Amino acid sequence: MKYNFDEIIDRRGTDCLKYDFGMKRKGRDDLLPMWVADMDFRLPDEILAELHRRIDHGIFGYTDPLDDYFDALNHWYSARYGFTTDPEWVTLGAGLVYAIHLSVRAFTEPGDAVMVMQPVYYPFSEAIRNNGRKLVNCQLHYEKGRYSIDFVDLERKMREEKVRALIFCSPHNPVGRVWTEEEVVKVADLCLANDAVLMVDEIHSDFIFPGHSFFSCMRLDEKYRKNLAFYSSPGKTFNIAGFQSANIIIPDETLRAKYRRANREAGYSQANIMGQSALIACYTLGAPWLDELVEYIYGNVRYAEDFIAENLPKAKVVKPEGTYLLWVDFSGYGISPEELEDRILNRAKLWLDAGGIFGPETALFERFNLAAPRPVVVGAMERLKTAFEDLN
Ligand SMILES: Cc1ncc(COP(=O)(O)O)c(C=O)c1O
Repeated sequence: MKYNFDEIIDRRGTDCLKYDFGMKRKGRDDLLPMWVADMDFRLPDEILAELHRRIDHGIFGYTDPLDDYFDALNHWYSARYGFTTDPEWVTLGAGLVYAIHLSVRAFTEPGDAVMVMQPVYYPFSEAIRNNGRKLVNCQLHYEKGRYSIDFVDLERKMREEKVRALIFCSPHNPVGRVWTEEEVVKVADLCLANDAVLMVDEIHSDFIFPGHSFFSCMRLDEKYRKNLAFYSSPGKTFNIAGFQSANIIIPDETLRAKYRRANREAGYSQANIMGQSALIACYTLGAPWLDELVEYIYGNVRYAEDFIAENLPKAKVVKPEGTYLLWVDFSGYGISPEELEDRILNRAKLWLDAGGIFGPETALFERFNLAAPRPVVVGAMERLKTAFEDLN
């Protein structure tokens, strides 16, 4: 490998949400954090050099995207996913969570039904509730350690509840499914038939494991574009969430006008210059680094899976097909969600995302963030083992 992902870089004292907010958020600072989806790897020198070049200019005024920006986007999208976008379709935003909240306001009315598929990234539900819309959940079907979409439930609820929009996570956080083309088309068909906007968050699409291929919603047939909104960002891929870079791509003019109107009403005008520069640098120069990184993370996933199978026989890993998140089912231990949390915090001394935040039915799951150097993952697994040994 050209890049050294084993290097442990101390992030404490860098105002970093993952490591520096233990006291504030948990009342303690003795936990190993594997919660928020934020990686512990340093960007490669070739990308940092580009950022330094921009910083060294010393002036950081307003900006708007120029051709270089759209060229970088299309370079990435065409090389990785087989589509290109018309720059006209793209609106920049301050992150995907912002864009998804705004979209709920733009595409639906107060009281309208908006659908999610739980367990799912919890800000989707917040975007619905925070805006006074009705949350309709189409619970993912969990069987034999694998998740799938319950299309019968999806069709029925869309029709009966008059769902106006679906927030679709592809690949899916936290369960790690990389939806197949067939699944994406089926979802798109149901949205089209029920006149619901299909909002697709593809922020995890650069983390796809061997044996799986990613099908972007932007490769759907043109007929689906009239109600399609696509949310994309280099934030997870290159761990630049702090730059708040996001692209909201809406091919249909009428739907795009609705989004842009809500965006104007919210007072958003320009993206930040560093986010824009970072996207150009990452999407132009970052492919070799990312390819090695995904291979490395896949190694972490396999290590954790094997370790858990061997040492925590009653826990079940939901085999991820992509993302850097590991979704683990602890229900086999027969303990309460409170005891699970107590063991994770007080015995393992791990800071994870408890399953209950992704939906009420998964309180006995935990989500692990494996985007860390292997020695850190190894240490975390050892802690986990000690915390459950008496129950095995
Ligand atoms: C599915 C998904 N969407 C969006 C985000 C956050 O996006 P942003 O930082 O651009 O708001 C995350 C972060 O974990 C995520 O998992």
